[in-house]
Amino acid sequence: MQNRLSARWIPSFLATIITTSFVYAQQTVIPIETEQNALVLQTDGSKRVGISYFGTRLQQANEYALVTKESRQNDENSGISNSAYTPSGTWNLFEPAIRVTHADGNTSLELQYQSHQTQKVDDNVTLTTVVLKDPAYAVEVSLYYKTYRKENVVEQWSTIRNNEKGTITLNKYASANLYFVGQSFHLTHYHGSWAHEMNPETTELKAGILSLDSKLGTRANLFQPPSFMLSFDQKATEETGKVLLGTLGWSGNFKIDFETDTYNNLRVIAGINPHASEYPLTSGQELKTPSFIYTFSDHGKGEASRNMHRWARKYRILDGEGSRLTLLNNWEATYFDFDEQKLTGLFADGKKLGVDLFLLDDGWFANKYPRNGDNAGLGDWKENVKKLPHGLGYLVKEAQKAGVKFGIWVEPEMVNPKSELYEKHPDWVIKQPERPEHYFRNQLVLDLSNPKVQDFVYGILDELFTKNPDLAFIKWDCNAVIYNAHSEYLKNSKQADSKLYVDYVKGLYKVLERVRAKYPKVPMMLCSGGGGRVDYEALKYFTEFWPSDNTDPLERVFMQWEYSYFFPTIAHCNHVTDWGKQPLKYRTDVAMMGKLGYDIVVSKLDEKDFEFSKQSVETYKKISDLVWHGDLYRLANPRENEYASLQFVNENKSRSVWFTYMVSSRYGVGTGRPIVLKGLDPKKKYALKELNLYPGTKSSITPDAAYTGDFLMSVGFNPAANLKRTSVMIELTEVK
Ligand code: DGJ
Repeated sequence: MQNRLSARWIPSFLATIITTSFVYAQQTVIPIETEQNALVLQTDGSKRVGISYFGTRLQQANEYALVTKESRQNDENSGISNSAYTPSGTWNLFEPAIRVTHADGNTSLELQYQSHQTQKVDDNVTLTTVVLKDPAYAVEVSLYYKTYRKENVVEQWSTIRNNEKGTITLNKYASANLYFVGQSFHLTHYHGSWAHEMNPETTELKAGILSLDSKLGTRANLFQPPSFMLSFDQKATEETGKVLLGTLGWSGNFKIDFETDTYNNLRVIAGINPHASEYPLTSGQELKTPSFIYTFSDHGKGEASRNMHRWARKYRILDGEGSRLTLLNNWEATYFDFDEQKLTGLFADGKKLGVDLFLLDDGWFANKYPRNGDNAGLGDWKENVKKLPHGLGYLVKEAQKAGVKFGIWVEPEMVNPKSELYEKHPDWVIKQPERPEHYFRNQLVLDLSNPKVQDFVYGILDELFTKNPDLAFIKWDCNAVIYNAHSEYLKNSKQADSKLYVDYVKGLYKVLERVRAKYPKVPMMLCSGGGGRVDYEALKYFTEFWPSDNTDPLERVFMQWEYSYFFPTIAHCNHVTDWGKQPLKYRTDVAMMGKLGYDIVVSKLDEKDFEFSKQSVETYKKISDLVWHGDLYRLANPRENEYASLQFVNENKSRSVWFTYMVSSRYGVGTGRPIVLKGLDPKKKYALKELNLYPGTKSSITPDAAYTGDFLMSVGFNPAANLKRTSVMIELTEVK
């Protein structure tokens, strides 16, 4: 065996380039490893690159070459299915990752290995690049695998370069093409709509292709998010089983195909949805696809999600390891009906409650067509002089005087036909010139492929910040989807309308890039009439997201639970509102599982409710470091029990906060038995204390009760949630 290149000495000037690959029987083997896992690429006799191994990292890297020898099953009749980036129009019989129409109209593509390089970005991050070329046509594809060693996360994307003389068209251009060998595969994916996001569905993948996709234009999700869990061999539990968590970082149309091959192995192809999105590349041009992010664990869903959380906090979400502002929002308290006097009253309420910030929602702008409902004014970003005669500057100051920061809602990408913006710039609006307009929430989408529109959208934010430097928070909403996809701006370019879906999202990112270059720190909430836009590309620019307009806490328990697999709770904005029939304590405890906010009329709370809420904000400030930065352990799934139970533990395992929420009590039973805790130090002793008790109620937990981690993780503890105590919040503190 030749093992020419592994772990060789590298001169210091080349220290960032490392080579752990090797050549075995004339074939190049490229292991891409994290602390626990490995994805191994290997060339074959035709210089095609396949995936020979995916799973737990082997102790000896040179044994990766044996995997292929022992297990590759490709043969002429069943096709080659393990390609690391499957081309179309030549030898492939399966779903391709890429399809190209060359400048001369030919639609065949072959991709052969040219070179690869592994670069050490720092002690934890490594980037492997594999260059593939078509021997007949000047098209080059580079595959990128960025590994985050400790977090066991891989971020994968590709670039496609046109070196032909003329323009080529990309008909399909996936980010990632993976191949998994296993006995069986169980896919958990999600569906829903406005106000009922993140309903899981688990299916065993059988012969054929199952696709997750969306065609909404402005966001990935409304009916289906680009996130999934895939269990290998059997359904993974929180603690056991092999499971991959995957999610695409793209705020537009996506497609993820799961194709079972003739050997019952699984091909996964993820990327921008090729639907109506043929993309032209002129000579010398390159397209970079979005990142597909995944993590694999052979210790169940809990570990996989903690991997993802650690990665997201450290590397992706803006200020992911920082802190967040508690807030009072006026949307459900006032809707569009407010004026300066009402708002200044609410500032005082926010202060009394103890939150950090007041967030002014929709309805503060537009004069010719005042924004008094959702059918007018969107696009006209000047203060409404009737409601706010002294302007926003006055409100920012009044809020500060009252002792709270001030934040504001915008929906800058969209327009109501009843607006001055629409009258002035009809050509900035996405619509088909020959067809009737079709609205989503009475509005249309601005054409962000147009640089002038990008300037306009950026200008809205820039003006707000320039005029009001103390503005402390932005809620960026996006309610509409793209109907009638046509761009006046692109209309004269090649493949005008099919470029729009991609160029819209690219335009959005350009705007966000500019906003963040000038205003790097201001916290911004990513909202899309709910959780429609939560993805890891958008979250580069946002500190948090709005999971759903449905704030009924009973519904939220389920939604927050599912979101929590993919996105850490520091980014979940959970507001206490009047939705649902649950008592205020339950609503508050549920909201505390993420970033706490309020959207209620504080002045209408009775004395006890107010006292409770004020104390809750104080309590939250004491435990928020655990919810924001701790490790999340799911103890009891609300879909399998009459209650949900989950726990956050800090890094050195000295503190934990534990939430239990009843979700169903058909026979009037409560938790009934101890719940076994997780993530503690078996040797440490913990004092248990119930938090967030409603005034006048007593805890059933003996004061000063203390148990070892061993006891709590073996025997457990009954939080005694029941019909009268529908939610229980317990703090565990190490006793020295
Ligand atoms: C939809 C958001 O999800 C709500 O929270 C609120 O901001 C409204 N838009 C305002 O129009």
